Amino acid sequence: MDEVEKKKFPQTEAEIKELLQKQDSGDGNEIPSALGVHYDSSTVTMVVTLDLPKEAVGGQTTIITGDEKTVRVPEPKVGHATIIQGRVLKHLASKPVTNHNRITLVNAYAVAAPAKLDNTALTSTKPSVLPRARFDLFYRDWVDYRFRKLEACLKVVRRNVVSDYEAGKGFDQEAFVTKCAEIENYLKKCYDEMECVNNPPYPPPHFHTPYADLP
Ligand SMILES: [Fe+2]
Repeated sequence: MDEVEKKKFPQTEAEIKELLQKQDSGDGNEIPSALGVHYDSSTVTMVVTLDLPKEAVGGQTTIITGDEKTVRVPEPKVGHATIIQGRVLKHLASKPVTNHNRITLVNAYAVAAPAKLDNTALTSTKPSVLPRARFDLFYRDWVDYRFRKLEACLKVVRRNVVSDYEAGKGFDQEAFVTKCAEIENYLKKCYDEMECVNNPPYPPPHFHTPYADLP
């Protein structure tokens, strides 16, 4: 970075503090970020800090709270991790105000119990818009993961229906219909973003919709 570029960033401690306060008291959408306000495609996300120099200020994972305010997750030290409910909380990857590097590793988690279907989504990686050849491995993994979950879930539902009947409990029609609707929705989410006729804009409007206005 040359001297002219350096001057675009705060130089003194007071300037750094002032800029941070200004960012934090304003709209989260205006905070400079490596990845702007978004929901994740995975149920629970762990962000591990791989590189953030000690002298860096800022660079935290920043969450938009229920009242649409911003909160920085403190102490993003190297080797430390932030775990967030990425499908529920809007958040962003803030850039250090001192313009230092911020490198993270992002890992995703979802429910493992076979009877439970997770809420993972294909939001940004989809074959209707991205070059197929580069992402075919991802789609293979996506289908493998989703269908394994589906197979396990179907097996549990079938076994429970049979064993409940054998145990003299009869057939719970309402529970079965509810579960089938859940499975139907899960299957639809496996492919709906892949359909060329369904190519919603990115970022989706709900990334910038206040929580209170969500359907
Ligand atoms: Fe995220």
